[in-house]
Amino acid sequence: MVTRRRMLVGTLATTGAGLITGAGLLPALRTDTAQAADGAEAVALPAPFTVKMPQLPVLTPYSTQGGQDAYRVTVKEVTREIIPGVQTKVLTYDGHFPGPIVRARSGRQVTIRHRNALDMPISPHLHGGSVAPENDGGPMDTVAPGAARTYTYPNQQPNATLWFHDHAHHMESEHVYRGLSGAYVLTDETERALPLPSGQYEIPIALRDARFDEFGQLVYQMDDFRGRTTLLANGRPSPYLEVAARKYRFRLLNTSNLRFFKLRLADGGQIVQIGSDGGLLERPFTTDTIKLSPAERADVVIDFSRYPVGTKIVLQNLPGAGATEPGNVLRFDVVRTAPDPSSVPDVLRTLPPVDSLPKPAVERKIVLSMDEDGRAEARGFMDGLQWEPGRIDQTVTFGTSEIWTVTNANQRIPHNFHMHLVQFRVLERGGVPVGPAEAGLKDTVELMAGETVKLHATFDSYRGDYVYHCHLLDHSAMGMMANFRVR
Ligand code: C2O
Ligand code: CU
Ligand code: CU
Repeated sequence: MVTRRRMLVGTLATTGAGLITGAGLLPALRTDTAQAADGAEAVALPAPFTVKMPQLPVLTPYSTQGGQDAYRVTVKEVTREIIPGVQTKVLTYDGHFPGPIVRARSGRQVTIRHRNALDMPISPHLHGGSVAPENDGGPMDTVAPGAARTYTYPNQQPNATLWFHDHAHHMESEHVYRGLSGAYVLTDETERALPLPSGQYEIPIALRDARFDEFGQLVYQMDDFRGRTTLLANGRPSPYLEVAARKYRFRLLNTSNLRFFKLRLADGGQIVQIGSDGGLLERPFTTDTIKLSPAERADVVIDFSRYPVGTKIVLQNLPGAGATEPGNVLRFDVVRTAPDPSSVPDVLRTLPPVDSLPKPAVERKIVLSMDEDGRAEARGFMDGLQWEPGRIDQTVTFGTSEIWTVTNANQRIPHNFHMHLVQFRVLERGGVPVGPAEAGLKDTVELMAGETVKLHATFDSYRGDYVYHCHLLDHSAMGMMANFRVR
């Protein structure tokens, strides 16, 4: 017990107090410590596939007047059941863990008023959204404790599986880890005209990892990719989902800070990918593996009609990042038959071919790196510099297109690359054209150690200052972020 108490106090001193001086978090941990000293049992995770996977709670607008949907959200700390029978402290949008979902339509504006009931600043960011700088949720453009602010999302962009999450600098990684993320599904006429599985057969699934202490509380330590070994699907550890023997559409979101998912059905069964970060692909393709680096999304269709009722199929995460065994993401339990009028058309949308994109006005080279010599306080860099507010690292001319060649200069550490404001096209990876999973519109792109990608983006929507960064959020909090100005 003495050792446990020391360990907890140590954790608070190095991470809790250093990064998030959450006065709200301290008393509860003290109470828990006291309970442990009284001899309480350590909390155990449930056996895999014993907890039901919930649906993401859909936020309801308080007004749909004036051609827009208006929402109100309170950002607050609550306790929620992640492990059965245990109340875990989480940071939430309106009390929801897993984070809620906003369903929006292209051409119809959404506003969200965020009231900050935490004792720390917040900055809600719509990831993948084309929004004005004052609505982007930049790292320094924060909402103070007790304050409120309305964010406006014009939704002048095509269908896409977006998401929103906190971006308050130096706290974004811990805030997101503790729960501040939600889904934002934008649909349009193109998508609605397709006979894809819809309604109860279209299910967003937010994936992430977590580390729990012996009291079932979330442990946050910087760069703790080895410790976060519990996989959560829609906020529950390795849950099961009952499905009918027909086609389903799953919008998979990787909301982890550091974990790269490599998903596969245990029987190697076919998965049809139909979309990625920036919405539908031009054409579906069939695969047995879906890769998602942090913040990436994959829109997939799985046809369970190939399985007899009674079949149970595990969605696994293949070994990597310290794990040697496949992880249990969730299990699909085929429990009934159902009619299926849905289908996956051969053409889902049209996108300009990459060789016909507007000529770039400028080509830039960007290099990501971080200390990998094992030092205690590793630093992250963009082009050798840690992020600094107000320092404009790249200036882009409004209305032009650019090619960014982005390299991960590390020997071992994987990164990825995310730009605010735009959806880009990935022209090449390692000098060759990318595969079908990366052929659509993207806002985040994987960069394994030593890799280089070439991106094409057009900056014709808003002027102003935005950031680009590694979306392994512990890395962006270490400084792997920079600013660009469109003018
Ligand atoms: Cu998910 Cu800077 O964003
Ligand atoms: Cu973003
Ligand atoms: Cu990184």
